[in-house]
Formats: sequence, C-alpha cells, structure tokens
Amino acid sequence: MPTPDASLSGTFAIGGDMVIHRLGFGAMRVTGQGIWGPPADPEECRRTLRRVPELGIDFIDTAESYGPYISEELIAETLSPYGRVIIATKGGHSRTGPNQWTPIGRPEFLIQGVQMSLRRLKLERLDLWQLHRIDPKVPAAEQFDTIASLLKQGLIRHAGLSEVSVNDIRAAQMHFPVASVQNKYSITDRNSEAVLAYCEANNIAFIPWRPIDGGNTSAGNPAFAAMLQKHGATPGQLALAWLLKRSPVMLPIPGTGKVSHLEENTAAAAIQLSDEDFAALSALR
Ligand SMILES: NC(=O)c1ccc[n+]([C@@H]2O[C@H](COP(=O)([O-])OP(=O)(O)OC[C@H]3O[C@@H](n4cnc5c(N)ncnc54)[C@H](OP(=O)(O)O)[C@@H]3O)[C@@H](O)[C@H]2O)c1
Repeated sequence: MPTPDASLSGTFAIGGDMVIHRLGFGAMRVTGQGIWGPPADPEECRRTLRRVPELGIDFIDTAESYGPYISEELIAETLSPYGRVIIATKGGHSRTGPNQWTPIGRPEFLIQGVQMSLRRLKLERLDLWQLHRIDPKVPAAEQFDTIASLLKQGLIRHAGLSEVSVNDIRAAQMHFPVASVQNKYSITDRNSEAVLAYCEANNIAFIPWRPIDGGNTSAGNPAFAAMLQKHGATPGQLALAWLLKRSPVMLPIPGTGKVSHLEENTAAAAIQLSDEDFAALSALR
C-alpha cells in the first residue's frame, strides 16, 4: 500500500493567506476517557502525532480543554518546532471533570486561555484560535471584542468560532474577520447545512467535527456497503471522501490516538468520488 498522502485532498487558504492541505488531524483523542487526563497509551499517542506531518498533514486541531492541556502539551512535546504545520487551538471552555464542558466567555478567561496556549504550544502567535463556544452568560459582543483585540495585538493570526449559527457568524463579523467555523457535520449529520452554505459563500473554512461518525452510522446500509466495495474503502474513509467532495471550504479533522487509524483515515484523501457516486451517497441519511 502506498504511504497515505493528505496533500491529495487539495488545499485551502484559511483567512485568505494560510494555505493548508484540506485533510487535517483532530488531536482531541490523545487524551484519557471523557477527554480527561492523560491517554491510556501515551507512547502510541506520541507516535501518532509524530506520524501526522509524515503523511502530509499540515493542519492540527486542538483545544486547551482537551485533557485539559494534555493535547496541547503532547503536540508541543512531539512536534515543536512545527515547520509548516499549522496548530489551530480553541479556548473558552472550562473543564470540571470527565465529559464536563462549561463555556466561560469572560474576557479575562479568553485572554488567559490564549496566553497559556501560547506558552504550552511554545509559540509567539497562534495561527488560528477559535472560541470553543459562545458563552450565553456573557454578552456576545464582549467576547467578540476580546477576540478583535487579541488579533490586533498579534497574539492570534486568525480567529474562528465553534458550534454557531449563521446569525452568530454575522454578529461576530461586525467585530472581527471570521476565518473558520467548526460545527458538527458528517454524511449522516447535516444539521449545519445553512452554516456550511454561508461559509462557502464567504470563503470561511468549515471544519466538521465528528467527521467519520457518519461512516459508522451508515455502515449497515446496503447502498453504502456497495459503495465501500466499489472503492475498496472503509466506512470512515468513505465518510471522509464524501466530506472532501462536498465543499471546497471543507477541512475534515478526523481524530485518533492510533497510528493505524491515522494512516487509514489519511488514505481517504486518495479516494476520488464521481459526481454520480457523490449524489448516491448524499441520498443516504
Ligand atoms: N469544536 C468542537 O466542539 C469539537 C467537538 C468534538 C471534537 N472536535 C474536534 O474534532 C475532531 C474529530 O472529532 P471526533 O474525534 O469527536 O470524531 P471522529 O474523528 O469522527 O471520530 C473519532 C473516534 O473514532 C475512532 N477512530 C478514528 N479513526 C478510526 C478508524 N480508522 N477506525 C476505527 N475507529 C477510528 C477514534 O478512536 P481511536 O482513538 O481508537 O482511533 C475516536 O473514538 C476532534 O479530534 C477534535 O479535534 C471539536
């Protein structure tokens, strides 16, 4: 089998000037159960992270809240200095225990988050920092103004949002240029179609999280199974190939803590879906 090559997924320029290969890597899974504490097999996670750039992946998604801190720390330990690899991180989520996530959008917490991500990732500027959630307890304009000032200070190069509506994006754009949006989306979860359309129309990167879950969900469908056979693909690979074909602004970030899964997922970049195959897969729900 040839070495999987993420560069076959094509490129996208985040914020108009930060060119990356569209198939990236999600670094949430290099942590413990409930995205809490260290992973069960830290050495395998280190091997996985080191393998990422070897496969042509130059876009890694993480967050201060993954672990918390564990994911950013492992990335820095294994990959810093990063060369041409872009590390995108997120802030604004507190962690009070396994599987517990609470937004905190107070300006001082967002600023501390950026400062501490810089320190952990050993960077002087974060290429892409995303607000993990808009905190409903804090005026959105305050959160967006904080992001605008972080951009102005040069602590972050580009900024994005996560789990937002079109109206949220429009509101944020009154304060700063929105470079990316990260919403849950896959072949079987298309609740964010309107947001994707808005991103495409405005050249905003759309980063679908839980991207391969659709493959697992569709695996039992006979039409999906026939397509798997036709392309010699696994369910996750087909789900990723569908995403890559779906939109030029789509940047899937499949997550794993295992080298074999990373390699399998990256090989999806080589799968070329015809318009017919894409339409047939799109008809599956
Ligand atoms: N913005 C947000 O709110 C948000 C929320 C969630 C996630 N994210 C980001 O999105 C990324 C992707 O989301 P996700 O990790 O939840 O979902 P995903 O990438 O769709 O699926 C990851 C799960 O599938 C398993 N897996 C991965 N590759 C596999 C393969 N080839 N064969 C079998 N199992 C495989 C992983 O376990 P193994 O480790 O065992 O491979 C993990 O349990 C995350 O890493 C994170 O960076 C963002």
